[in-house]
Amino acid sequence: MSTDTTLLNQRMTHFDGHDEIWLFGYGSLIWKADFPYLERRPAHIHGWVRRFWQGSHDHRGTPESPGRVVTLLHEPGATCHGMAYRITPDVLAPLDVREKNGYLREVTRLFFDDTASDATAENDKKVESAEGLVYLATSDNAAFLGEAPLDAIAEQIANAHGPSGANRDYLINLACALQELGVDDPHVFALAHRLHHVGH
Ligand code: SIN
Repeated sequence: MSTDTTLLNQRMTHFDGHDEIWLFGYGSLIWKADFPYLERRPAHIHGWVRRFWQGSHDHRGTPESPGRVVTLLHEPGATCHGMAYRITPDVLAPLDVREKNGYLREVTRLFFDDTASDATAENDKKVESAEGLVYLATSDNAAFLGEAPLDAIAEQIANAHGPSGANRDYLINLACALQELGVDDPHVFALAHRLHHVGH
């Protein structure tokens, strides 16, 4: 099952009149920035954890054999690290199409990770947080698959393929991107580890 959220997202008016918007990416938006952006900065948001609990029927799987991609689950006290992009509003329309399988734009406060205490003069001028948006697939969307044993999730990812390619590449690319950012994400790394033990 899937429901196209493109039209719902285009009804969002929160950033109307803004000529720039910060977008927080925590999944493929970290490692596949195939859209124009003005600037990108590592960042995190509070109260959310990344989980491979969202079905992918359009990118990394098919309606008959869905893959699994990440969404965010609310967890008080948690922190989710990713990448923030400063974009112009026209970039949202193609992003709405890319994220149409259940993701809705949500407003979030994002905190930048590149404002070190020994900041250079240039970093000193950088803002520490901003209001932005994130594409979130909540548990009530039709493509939500939810929790499953890690071995079962890894197995599903190992076997799924879709128009955007193999589901395993999504997981491996995400794990590598998080490693490069110096982010520890036990859920993602445990799945990437299991993937090596699952046949093609
Ligand atoms: C995101 O990356 O922020 C959303 C989920 C995805 O496209 O993988």
